Amino acid sequence: MRILGIFDDHNCGCAVIEDGKILAAIEEERLSRIKFHNGTTEDGPPIRSLKKVLEMTNTSRRNTDYIALAIEPPAKLQRRVLRDLLCVQRHDRWIYHSIFSKSIRWDKYFLFYPYWYNAYRIRQVKRLLKSVDLDGIPIELMNHHEAHAASAYYTSGWEHALVVTLDGQGDGLAGSVYYGINGDLIKVDEVSSFHSIGLFYNFITWMLGYKPNRHEGKITGLAAYGDPQKTIEIYRKFFRMNGAEFQYELSKKVFQHAYPQRSNYDRLLLATNGTFKGFSPADIAAGVQAISEECTTTWVAHHLKKYLAYTGFSSAKVCMAGGVFSNVKINQRVAELPGVESVFIFPAMVDGGLCSGAALWAYYKHCPEAKKYISQMRLPHVYLGPEYTEEEIVQSLKRANLKYEYVENIEDRIGALLAKGKVVARFNGRMEYGPRALGNRSILYQPTDPTVNDWLNKRLKRTEFMPFAPSSLAEDCESLYKRIRNNKFPAEFMTITFDCTPQMHKKCPAVVHVDGTARPQIVYPHINESYYRILKSYQKRTGLSTFVNTSFNMHEEPIVCTPDDAIRAFQLGHLDYLAIHNFLVYSDATKEESTSDS
Ligand SMILES: [Fe+2]
Repeated sequence: MRILGIFDDHNCGCAVIEDGKILAAIEEERLSRIKFHNGTTEDGPPIRSLKKVLEMTNTSRRNTDYIALAIEPPAKLQRRVLRDLLCVQRHDRWIYHSIFSKSIRWDKYFLFYPYWYNAYRIRQVKRLLKSVDLDGIPIELMNHHEAHAASAYYTSGWEHALVVTLDGQGDGLAGSVYYGINGDLIKVDEVSSFHSIGLFYNFITWMLGYKPNRHEGKITGLAAYGDPQKTIEIYRKFFRMNGAEFQYELSKKVFQHAYPQRSNYDRLLLATNGTFKGFSPADIAAGVQAISEECTTTWVAHHLKKYLAYTGFSSAKVCMAGGVFSNVKINQRVAELPGVESVFIFPAMVDGGLCSGAALWAYYKHCPEAKKYISQMRLPHVYLGPEYTEEEIVQSLKRANLKYEYVENIEDRIGALLAKGKVVARFNGRMEYGPRALGNRSILYQPTDPTVNDWLNKRLKRTEFMPFAPSSLAEDCESLYKRIRNNKFPAEFMTITFDCTPQMHKKCPAVVHVDGTARPQIVYPHINESYYRILKSYQKRTGLSTFVNTSFNMHEEPIVCTPDDAIRAFQLGHLDYLAIHNFLVYSDATKEESTSDS
């Protein structure tokens, strides 16, 4: 059974799955070069990723069984939003205020916006499908969080798991809880978007001068430099847990306005009434990180207890998806909860993962007998994007007029260059799906120089507080990262931090954060053989089984996709070498060295 999955909103994308396996998945931003491409705005619908996944998988009307959209049916969404406002909130002043609020977005939201918005989205996707001759194929609609939950559970390879989703908001919800049992996803709880920890984190990101919905990772990195104790009590006045429920105190008591849309940020700032004045950005960041970790772990722990009682198990596996779980520190805290055996975070945990999640949800709905084989469906890798032929690469190199040579054993040469302290951009095979570069679109460097974070980020025109992430040989990972034994699976995808061992602190200071953690990618030969061989070559020369892996992109741009993107970023970033497929490309500076070497 073949299913095309589409997500059309912020960070849109398309995926094709067959019999529960993802054949191809691409976020539109990689092809349009618009970061977090939003298909419902002037960015335009995700036509490029749609055409690309169809082309890559030879999918057409003939072999497509269903089309799955991560869009809630409009009437259902409208009912949910009204129910949450009138029944869940039970706060007269708030409801009254909301109805007569001057916030345009909110007025629309309350009166007709949910219905209108999702109906509009469905119409737009239908037009998109018609343009590629896929109209008339049965369409499956589902809630945003159903797609998030399906993405994590149906790729975990676990028959039994607690499945949690948390994000800013999607289809009226900011989170959900499911029990994954023998292939069934049983819903047990949901979090209304009126109490979204993700949107609260967005607001603080904005307050600190960064772009909400984009720069949250910087706040997570900055947090390690601050003292959470200085600000956490202030945060508790705005956001806290009411038992096991997220509770937006800010909206209820101070602002009486739940939905911190961007249009409300100035008013939210007024509502905080200068309480953050005098605190350093690092302390403000540390506080929001701490309250987010505290609330999320309290919530997961509560549901974990109920799940264990329900199943009779003594420990549980936890699957996670949604933007909040792009926070690698929160993921570490969840993994450390008593009773958690292992965690798995869907590698495209943000909304770029919804196209796959939607398709998976539809597959198990229409093919229930496949639930028997769920343990065989563990996600093997995320190299699910496009790849380019040698001929296409040569054409790009010639167009750019670059000096290059063909190297038979390019992996060994890259290892040698890294050992000499060179910066090498690596472009090889199929592009990664999800926000992390995992060796096929990565910039590599030795892990011994802690100043690399400053100068390389400057060259790439980036500002980051989190150090670069390490790629490490899988066979050595237990000597580098503490308590990684049960969580090697999420570490394949750089989705969680671990405390580093003294050996790591001493030998690889460039990848260890000020709080002593790192977010590794552990590399196996059967998953990415070429990348594994680069690590082996580097290890042979230096004795180190780790190097720096940062995504191959320039400031604020999506990760490179095509050879042309790679060449452009290589030149703008003034990197030493570009190793593209088996070609070693020299920069102006290294061109001279290559002549003197030979
Ligand atoms: Fe989401």
